[in-house]
Amino acid sequence: MLIRKPPAIKSSEITPESVYLNRRELLRAAGITTAGMISGTAHGDESDMNFKPLGKLTPSPYSTDAEPTGFADIASYNNFYEFGLDKSDPAARSGDFKPKPWSVTVDGAAEVTGTFTYEDIVGPHPLEERVYRLRCVEAWSMVVPWAGFPLGDLLKRFKPTSNAKYVAFETVYRPDEMPGQRRRLLRWPYREGLRIDEAMHPLTILATGLYGVELPNQNGAPLRLVVPWKYGFKSIKSIVRISFIEDEPFTTWNDAAPSEYGFFANVNPEVDHPRWSQARERPIGGGFFASKVPTLMFNGYADEVASLYADMDLSRYY
Ligand code: MTE
Repeated sequence: MLIRKPPAIKSSEITPESVYLNRRELLRAAGITTAGMISGTAHGDESDMNFKPLGKLTPSPYSTDAEPTGFADIASYNNFYEFGLDKSDPAARSGDFKPKPWSVTVDGAAEVTGTFTYEDIVGPHPLEERVYRLRCVEAWSMVVPWAGFPLGDLLKRFKPTSNAKYVAFETVYRPDEMPGQRRRLLRWPYREGLRIDEAMHPLTILATGLYGVELPNQNGAPLRLVVPWKYGFKSIKSIVRISFIEDEPFTTWNDAAPSEYGFFANVNPEVDHPRWSQARERPIGGGFFASKVPTLMFNGYADEVASLYADMDLSRYY
């Protein structure tokens, strides 16, 4: 099950102390002590939660300059239907979920396939801190200091064949630990997919943490996708299967409401959701009455990704 290890990390890639101290200040401001303890406010209860620090992270040049949303907001205002429909459900109802031990099955059109432990999957990859904007179709947004590594670096290790035109992802199915899965809110398990060039794009990451600590359960522990130029529903959480496939994969929200959620789901202020405008967004953390701001094409990442869709009519392929 062990796969190829990358070369050792160069010392130049290690987070400089000043950046690290800065991050510690951010964590402290968010309520996390240097020991990695955060008070239970993000969970809405009195108990204290432990979030394991990830150690030093390499700051990524792909980060935005935007001010990150506070930890408590990122970890308490969530969409994770496996734990319920309300934004507060994932933080309140994910306490029984066990993200470790974890394994991921890789199958389909690749030379290397099989079931791999979390350590096999993540272990060889140096982790970076990437501050990315997350824009939800519900017209709110956050700025998250993710910890993760490029998905493409992982995918290459499996040596996909020329038949691998798409990559499909699947969330774990554990109704005992995920109360939302005991109801047919969606057709479980949650599934998502990307075209292979999107999956290989350096902006696409697999995240294992945020704010320098391991991912809270409600944010998709232990392993989730982050595709910053697409609406948030593409960023599938708690991944247990990665499949290299030839045809466009089944995706959960496209299945639930095809006229509202397309396969591509690129952030596009010019293409409205059938029931509301997508032209503006409310940054989370500023209070409900904070003014909305204009949404940017591809969520602000147009320079990097617009060329992927050069020949496509984006109002048709939404
Ligand atoms: N992944 C799974 N498995 N289940 C979900 O309900 N919700 C998606 C996405 N990934 C979802 C999911 C949606 S709609 C959004 S906006 C983001 O997760 C929210 O991520 P966050 O809670 O970390 O902000």
